[in-house]
Amino acid sequence: MKYRRLGIWGVKLSEVGFGSWLTLNDSELDHAADLHRTAYENGINFFDTANAYGRGRAEVLVGKALEPFRRDSYVLATKLFWPFEQNWPFPGANDRGLSRKHIFEQCHASLQRLDTEYIDLYQCHRYDNETPVAETCRAMNDLITQGKVLYWGVSEWNAEQIAEAVEICDDHNWHRPVSNQPLYNMLERHWEAEVFPTCARLGLGIVNFSPLCEGLLTGKYNNGVPKNTRAAHEQYGKFIKERMTEDNLKIVRKLTDIADGLGVPMATLAIAWCLRRRELTSVIIGASKSSQILDNAAASDLELDENVTERIDAILGG
Ligand SMILES: NC(=O)c1ccc[n+]([C@@H]2O[C@H](COP(=O)([O-])OP(=O)(O)OC[C@H]3O[C@@H](n4cnc5c(N)ncnc54)[C@H](OP(=O)(O)O)[C@@H]3O)[C@@H](O)[C@H]2O)c1
Repeated sequence: MKYRRLGIWGVKLSEVGFGSWLTLNDSELDHAADLHRTAYENGINFFDTANAYGRGRAEVLVGKALEPFRRDSYVLATKLFWPFEQNWPFPGANDRGLSRKHIFEQCHASLQRLDTEYIDLYQCHRYDNETPVAETCRAMNDLITQGKVLYWGVSEWNAEQIAEAVEICDDHNWHRPVSNQPLYNMLERHWEAEVFPTCARLGLGIVNFSPLCEGLLTGKYNNGVPKNTRAAHEQYGKFIKERMTEDNLKIVRKLTDIADGLGVPMATLAIAWCLRRRELTSVIIGASKSSQILDNAAASDLELDENVTERIDAILGG
């Protein structure tokens, strides 16, 4: 496993990170612990979760799963924005967004659920149109000053929103956002044109999510939907099914031929393809089985030569 600096900042993340969206919702601790141990033992030091994943359950499991490991040996990231729904189905008016109130309350709750003294990277899960960016920047700065958070970042913010936050922080001498977590994979590249150069220019590291398009880019759906996969799940399969168009499947079948020719799993190729971009710090994978983590972590050691990237570009049209 190789490591990269988070943008211009000092902290180093494994090129492959491990996330916990959906995959821990129905898990017991021993399964969560097995997955995290496999990730850790294969060099992954970056673990991503969110308050909303399983309504707090993922944070609790991630915290317990990482308990055996030295706290300084990994980088723990979580997020807030979506209604936490503590009072579900009647969430309060302030149970969402990036107000100072919600940020402080959810930070304290995340620290408890994760059972840790500090969060390495605290991320705004989305942009909040109802809160001034300066209020969010200041709240994040204050959490950092208090030592509860070490770095803060954003997710799915556009270039203008990122630039505005950095400018406000610089104007007030507040801690800047250091990272952005966008959706990015071979089939979903809309952030490449503006957000990638903005992050590079302003020194933010990119930690992209769904690098396998939720599993589509493993090739396992090339001939239908196998049982016990995300797409087969009645509730969790909702998002991947929207992406499983005939056009996308045609592309993945062609990409799978390239992976087969190289003798590597399609998943490994898809992640290595993301890592060809030096603006990226870490590619955040999900996994329901330890064997998947092994395939995916191997991407850090797979260098794609120009001939391969050109053939991939020809298929992707990029
Ligand atoms: N910021 C955001 O808004 C946001 C949004 C989404 C995700 N995220 C973060 O990004 C992480 C990854 O997202 P994701 O789960 O969508 O990522 P992904 O890596 O694109 O998809 C993960 C799923 O693909 C399947 N898979 C993974 N590796 C495989 C392999 N080698 N062979 C076969 N199947 C494989 C598994 O599903 P099955 O085995 O169940 O089929 C796995 O759960 C999340 O855990 C979360 O931390 C953030």
